[in-house]
Amino acid sequence: MGRVAALLNQKGGVCKTTVTLGLASAAAAAGDRVLVVDLDPQGSSTWILGHDPAVEQESTADLLSPGHGPANILMSRWGLEVDVIPSSPTLQDHEAGKPKRLRRALRHVAADYDAVLIDCPPSLGNLTMSGLIAADLALIVVEPAALGLRGIGAVADAIDEVWTDHNTDLELAGVIVNKVPAISGEADRRYDELERIVGRSTIWQPSIPQRVIVNQAIGERRPIHSYGARSSDISDAFDKLWSKLRKAARST
Ligand SMILES: Nc1ncnc2c1ncn2[C@@H]1O[C@H](COP(=O)(O)OP(=O)(O)OP(=O)(O)O)[C@@H](O)[C@H]1O
Ligand SMILES: [Mg+2]
Repeated sequence: MGRVAALLNQKGGVCKTTVTLGLASAAAAAGDRVLVVDLDPQGSSTWILGHDPAVEQESTADLLSPGHGPANILMSRWGLEVDVIPSSPTLQDHEAGKPKRLRRALRHVAADYDAVLIDCPPSLGNLTMSGLIAADLALIVVEPAALGLRGIGAVADAIDEVWTDHNTDLELAGVIVNKVPAISGEADRRYDELERIVGRSTIWQPSIPQRVIVNQAIGERRPIHSYGARSSDISDAFDKLWSKLRKAARST
């Protein structure tokens, strides 16, 4: 049975969605199956995977509601390996709610996948807490920029709090660094700072370089692996990260 990984950071725009979908792209390329759970009312991963969050009826919001039925799992446009539970704008209303419901719902479906990837919203509110309570693995996504590292201590505290109060299965699996510029003293300094904050072994290798093709793939709603040689360095990086996550996600 695949385990559940939450990709999070309270900051917006630090590439949580890009990394979630890069991992899904790598899983599909390897013939592995993943379920993307879109826990962000913005619905970016729902949209990129081929569904309109504004028109989907059943969404992750329903899984946070009382008396919900089975999860509305949709096939993605990316192929048979990637499924999605869509977001909806009403998810916003669940910033206050019962965070354990999602956990129960995902336990039922995780067995069908090599991993379940929860794309969290940019906050440490109830939605992200629900994601952490439902997860076995927490992956913090950061950018090596001054603002990109701000608040990472609060994210680690939130993981600790969920572990103490709700979910002793949860472990901080690691930190994934994305959008690393080719040559930048500033990024190098921030990377060193990150190592000091979280410890070298917590940072997953490799980091993902900053490249226009990543932006293009998101804009065109396509898996990064579909660009062949144009994206091979990025695809290789996600392949290595997926391989590490798949090992971590295999329950014993
Ligand atoms: N490696 C990269 N190189 C270049 N651009 C990138 C890279 N990774 C992500 N981006 C771009 O950075 C932007 C923010 O990424 P993304 O939407 O994944 O962040 P997010 O943390 O999910 O945002 P939000 O908090 O709004 O959910 C996007 O425009 C994306 O295309
Ligand atoms: Mg996002």
